Amino acid sequence: MGHAEPQVSTSLQSFWMPFSPNKEFKAEPRMIARAEGMYFYTPDDRKLIDASSGLFCVAAGHCRKEIAEAVYRQLQTLDYTAPFLRGQSKSFELAERVADLLPEGLNRVFFVNSGSEAVDTAMKMALMYHRVRGQAQRQLFVSRDRAYHGVNMGGVALAGMVNNRRAFGTGLPGVYHMRHTALPQNKFVKGQPAEGADLAEDLQRMCTLYGGENIAACFVEPTAGSFGCLPPPKGYLNRLRQICDEHGILLVFDEVITGFGRMGANFGAQAFGVTPDLLLMAKAITNGSQPMGAVAAKQGIYDAITEAGPKQGIEFFHGYTYSAHPASCAAGLAMMDIFKNDQLIERAAALSPYFIDAVHSLADAPGVVDIRSVGLMAAVEVAAVGGPGARGHELQKKLYDTGLHLKSTGDSMIIAPPLIAEKAHVDEIVGKIRSALAA
Ligand SMILES: Cc1ncc(COP(=O)(O)O)c(C=O)c1O
Repeated sequence: MGHAEPQVSTSLQSFWMPFSPNKEFKAEPRMIARAEGMYFYTPDDRKLIDASSGLFCVAAGHCRKEIAEAVYRQLQTLDYTAPFLRGQSKSFELAERVADLLPEGLNRVFFVNSGSEAVDTAMKMALMYHRVRGQAQRQLFVSRDRAYHGVNMGGVALAGMVNNRRAFGTGLPGVYHMRHTALPQNKFVKGQPAEGADLAEDLQRMCTLYGGENIAACFVEPTAGSFGCLPPPKGYLNRLRQICDEHGILLVFDEVITGFGRMGANFGAQAFGVTPDLLLMAKAITNGSQPMGAVAAKQGIYDAITEAGPKQGIEFFHGYTYSAHPASCAAGLAMMDIFKNDQLIERAAALSPYFIDAVHSLADAPGVVDIRSVGLMAAVEVAAVGGPGARGHELQKKLYDTGLHLKSTGDSMIIAPPLIAEKAHVDEIVGKIRSALAA
């Protein structure tokens, strides 16, 4: 076990913090010094239970030695090699291991460094796929209100969260949004709501209005995560699949949060029984220990693009300096072993009913206006006070002070503990949230 770092007097001013209220934080910092298993520790060694797996990354719990040692060994063996025109064995091995967890047919894996890069990569793959098949007119994209697809320009255009879009101009042209699936009649429903499958008809409406033959891809998170856990209504994803098939549109699942056990199955695709054409992942692929994301494509998409390319030349003009970085691949392979040896995904599925019941027990806590849940993820939404998000932000700070870390979006607190959680951890999380709500 490590020790808390001493309090440092370094100025906080130079670092421009991402997605954070910089002025407020620097006046009143809430720092983390170390982590282990289910817990973070502050510089004065106060313990915080991690109720959101950091940012939905740390499925296997913090500071796994197997991962740290694999990365250390890798950096001493092959720290870096150009990923263009040169190969290193771990990238091929990790692609196979990831494909083993995916639904059948999704077996070609393109590595990137984040969820945002996975989103923009998938948009380009979709455009390329249609182009090589003589359908270059398919340039439109459909996504959904309340979606989060990262922060690169493609992902911002797809996004359906107003603050992530409003300051950045018009974004990409040709992106249309379906309605979200948060219906008032589905409040406090456990798991997939019964109502709302008909909202998939929004995609059909786009096809009628803009021409299905002009739409390249439809992007959805199988369960909207960052917005605050919106599980798909029963039948909704199946209907999207049907409409995509009828119109030759690629269905893309953004599983950056829902992948690797969070939904109680390998991916949301298996949890909800619908297979997309492209599936995006990141976060838990390395347990958050190294930056990495990936796009998994159906073999037919890979074959179409590679076979249409020149005999001796690049087929897909896309990639990053750090694509399939050796250290990330080493971390990813160690994580695949942990998933298997610790049966993490099976554990998540087994704990899910207890977790869901425990979180829903907060329904009678002061200010709670909705609870949504599926797998090992839930959101507790409180009534807005002092403008949207103000109360959620205050709660999130208060929870840090009382020993709990979680991600809040607006007035929703998102609970997604590491998949190693035991019932006692769930009780601790729910108890702390109840006390903070009461206060
Ligand atoms: C569904 C989804 N897509 C994409 C992203 C972006 O990932 P990153 O922050 O790694 O760029 C996120 C991040 O939370 C996400 O939840």
